[in-house]
Amino acid sequence: MLTKHITGALIVALALSGAAAACSSSSSGANAQADAGPPDSGRVPTATTGTIERGQYLVDHVLVCGVCHTPNGKDGKPDMTLYLAGSRSYDFTDKDGTIVTVNAENLTSHNPEGLFTWSDEQIRTALTQGVDDEHVSLYPIMPYPEYNLLTRTDVDSIIQYLRSVAPNPNVVAADYPYSDQNPSAPPVDGTKIPHTTLPASDPGFAAAERGRYLATVACLNCHTPQLGADVPDLTKAFAGGKKYTFIRGAKENTSVNITPDMTTGIGAWSIADIVASLKTDTEKGTGRTLCSTHPGQADYLGKMTDGDMTDIATYLHTLAPVMNGPFKCE
Ligand code: HEC
Ligand code: HEC
Repeated sequence: MLTKHITGALIVALALSGAAAACSSSSSGANAQADAGPPDSGRVPTATTGTIERGQYLVDHVLVCGVCHTPNGKDGKPDMTLYLAGSRSYDFTDKDGTIVTVNAENLTSHNPEGLFTWSDEQIRTALTQGVDDEHVSLYPIMPYPEYNLLTRTDVDSIIQYLRSVAPNPNVVAADYPYSDQNPSAPPVDGTKIPHTTLPASDPGFAAAERGRYLATVACLNCHTPQLGADVPDLTKAFAGGKKYTFIRGAKENTSVNITPDMTTGIGAWSIADIVASLKTDTEKGTGRTLCSTHPGQADYLGKMTDGDMTDIATYLHTLAPVMNGPFKCE
């Protein structure tokens, strides 16, 4: 896509709720001819490790790209006729008070609305470094500082899967106002992500370490407070308190502490409780459906595999507790 603008230090705020207005987009009856031919022809494909199946699983149920890149229909469920074709819009308040509207683009293989013309390396760079095909920085609403820690195989899998998504001509509105403020947000420092407190000899250790990887790329961005704009406070990793501001004047949302602190976190939850919460999108004890900022719906995190949910739960349950909060979503 040609439309872009960018970043800089912006005051927090990311609108993710189903309540957030799914923005725009008129379908153009784009030129069917343009869809013909293999993507990336003439360029050397570099996304050669991994599999399309792994890519689909990561995109749909772990990294939940559709939460932002697939608009919701009137029933509040993802509109699958616009699967990954954009767009949710996000309104930010910039430092000087300007409200900036950012749209999540069309990721299908459509030419020119989607990623058809992008090389594998351009998609990789956008995904892991937040720089697009025109060398413009992306807003870190898109969690690329965390995606920077994805393995090569997982990034290749995602690229292969995106290539396989049928072209959709949906036109995504340009960001407004346009601004081009490089550089993009820095990658998350993987060495500072806390490890499980389990000793390496513990039977749960390997599961917890697998969970550490998944939680870092899938949960850290939302569940960690920020030091300044765009930089997570890793001394409080997973301890909640990051605020989300809804579109224009709507109520703020706050993420909660998912470290095992007894008073401010989920210290009273067992590994099975955490898995059950992820699977059913509800809170332990009350059975309350979690607020929709947590992408727990069956279309998204709710369909993560039992194995991956258990790994993540094992990791969270065995982190050193961090006292922070307690927070409530609304
Ligand atoms: C929390 C919301 C969110 C999630 C989750 C998300 N994105 Fe994005 N993405 C955005 C937004 C917003 C933009 C536009 C940013 C901008 O214009 O500055 C974007 C931009 C992009 C771009 C650049 C597209 C272009 O035309 O410039 C690519 C590629 C992309 N995302 C891929 C992905 C993939 C793949 C995933 C899942 C692995 C993903 N995104 C997850 C919100 C998100
Ligand atoms: C887009 C932001 C976002 C992402 C991504 C996200 N969460 Fe959440 N999560 C939230 C918010 C906000 C809440 C509070 C919901 C509520 O209380 O209604 C929450 C609630 C929870 C709860 C319930 C805790 C409680 O005290 O009720 C658990 C468990 C949880 N998240 C785990 C995870 C895990 C594990 C991941 C990654 C696989 C994840 N979340 C990804 C935003 C997010």
